[in-house]
Amino acid sequence: MRILGIESSCDETAAAVVEDGRIVLSNAISTQIPIHTLYGGVVPEIASRKHIERITQVVEQGLSDAGCTLDDIDAIGVTYGPGLVGPLLVGTSFAKALAYGRDLPLIGVHHIEGHISANYIEHPDLEPPFLCLVVSGGHTHLVRVLDYGQYEILGRTVDDAAGEAFDKVARAIGLGYPGGPKIEKKALEGNPDAIAFPRAKVDEHPYDFSFSGLKSAVLNYLNGMQMKGEPVNEADVAASFQKAVVSALVDHAMMALDEFGGDKFAIAGGVASNGAFRQAMKDACEKRGVQFLCPSPILCTDNGAMIGAAAYYDYMKGRRDSWDLNATPNLKLGER
Ligand code: KG4
Ligand code: ZN
Repeated sequence: MRILGIESSCDETAAAVVEDGRIVLSNAISTQIPIHTLYGGVVPEIASRKHIERITQVVEQGLSDAGCTLDDIDAIGVTYGPGLVGPLLVGTSFAKALAYGRDLPLIGVHHIEGHISANYIEHPDLEPPFLCLVVSGGHTHLVRVLDYGQYEILGRTVDDAAGEAFDKVARAIGLGYPGGPKIEKKALEGNPDAIAFPRAKVDEHPYDFSFSGLKSAVLNYLNGMQMKGEPVNEADVAASFQKAVVSALVDHAMMALDEFGGDKFAIAGGVASNGAFRQAMKDACEKRGVQFLCPSPILCTDNGAMIGAAAYYDYMKGRRDSWDLNATPNLKLGER
């Protein structure tokens, strides 16, 4: 079964062909990062326009890279939420038109379910149940994957997402957008123990995350240094900030493992491509004898293959969407 997966929820226009939910035949991605870099972050209106300009080409590329035409495609999967409404509308409208025109089944995919499903591609033997930490620019979700398409959310961020914190701190120290990869690179030259930034806890809900306090602590530190007329070592700030985020993420993950058990822990989302985070999670899981799983970096950031994989399992569970499928910017995980 070959599914064409389409993704356009933020600043990547992507299309991939995935066979039986696990085998990636193509993974075409057109990123808008160079455009949004000019503005220091994603400008939704510009993102929508760029998706419109590129989606036809990207889908054609996805098909031709797989050596396919639409005749070889059995269903179309598309991200319909959560995300930016304009960008989501471009992907859903395109997918609907294509599915209607070719009389193909249409499957609306939840973006986070897509990120989680990137692990099915990378690890062909992986089956639920497992625990998964989804960390991206828009989401920080600690999830129990009970079965395909069946999730229990243990915790989420109460303010900024982890990737958002990376982006905001990078801007504050003058590294530009997108912050994650730039902070990771800068941190390699710095001392992670140079500055003791706080690790926020949400007392009433131990599995929830909070990153806005950490971001404010970095901004206060930078202001304080400026007022004292002292130079800032950006590499130390980057390394110390990254350590604080990574330790909050790893602590929550290990707390969930201690309470819920299980023998597998997966990560997903753009921040999951961070080398320091991957290493810290691997070490912590190995210490407990738990298998650690993560997708390759190209499958962590937004892509169409993860949407094709998620759509396959939705399809197998009987999901079919009709022509009224709509972009749903605040779609909740597990909501249908
Ligand atoms: O999953 P993704 O491509 O889009 C969303 O669904 O949000 O994630 C993008 C986010 C951005 O905030 C970016 O700064 C962050 O992931 N990111 C990273 C790294 N690469 C991307 N954060 C930390 N380290 C990285 N290497
Ligand atoms: Zn994403």
